[in-house]
Amino acid sequence: MRLQLCTWQEVESYLQRSTGIIIPIGSTEQHGPNGLIGTDAICPETVAFGVGERIGAMVAPTLSIGMAQHHMAFPGTITFRPTTLIAVVTDVVNALARHGFDSFYFLNGHGGNIATISAAFSEIYAQSSLGTAPEDRRPVRCRLANWFMGAKVKALSKELFGDSEGRHATPSEVSLSYYAYPDAVKQAQMTPKIAPVGEIRDAADYRRQFPDGRIGSDPSLASVEAGERLYRASMEDVEADYLAFTQKGA
Ligand code: NI
Repeated sequence: MRLQLCTWQEVESYLQRSTGIIIPIGSTEQHGPNGLIGTDAICPETVAFGVGERIGAMVAPTLSIGMAQHHMAFPGTITFRPTTLIAVVTDVVNALARHGFDSFYFLNGHGGNIATISAAFSEIYAQSSLGTAPEDRRPVRCRLANWFMGAKVKALSKELFGDSEGRHATPSEVSLSYYAYPDAVKQAQMTPKIAPVGEIRDAADYRRQFPDGRIGSDPSLASVEAGERLYRASMEDVEADYLAFTQKGA
């Protein structure tokens, strides 16, 4: 179920049977020579819609801008400051909690968001612990899951792409975005074939170290077919994890 396609009465009746919600969260940032700017939002959104349909879970609108300061030397990237993203995540949780949701499953598509989303969860829990939460807020639980780190996805990425997977603009994420939007498939030469690796600092340093935007990857191996397999693997990972989370078992 997509929140955006529900009426308020449908949300009210959903809350009678479940207080869990999946919130896709990503980024709007460069993804190398053949990757879409929206890759990190498209991937978790596609998996979340699939899972939501299969098990009847509510899926919130995708938070498609994240913490991507290090990609700002490439046109098209939009970033929130870490403090802004913490505020966005906190406000979304508090708004949904007011309606009765209490289990928030953030399905993330961007490694650069992990530290900041975790900090947002600490902020939300600190509100409970310090008595500064919005009035009447029920106890809330948050989970951060990264679609690309599920056990089935990781095994499949390794099988499909091995050492060409890398860390940014990976063939796995590019494949999944191509599966979601086959009309947007791009072709590009990769030079060198596998991109360099290194530490992430600020935007200018990133562009010096990783001139075409990739880190350690060869996304010319991406394909719609691989994307479909990754989509199915990720749905299995996420479905099991979401059910365990909402049934309070984990
Ligand atoms: Ni990405």
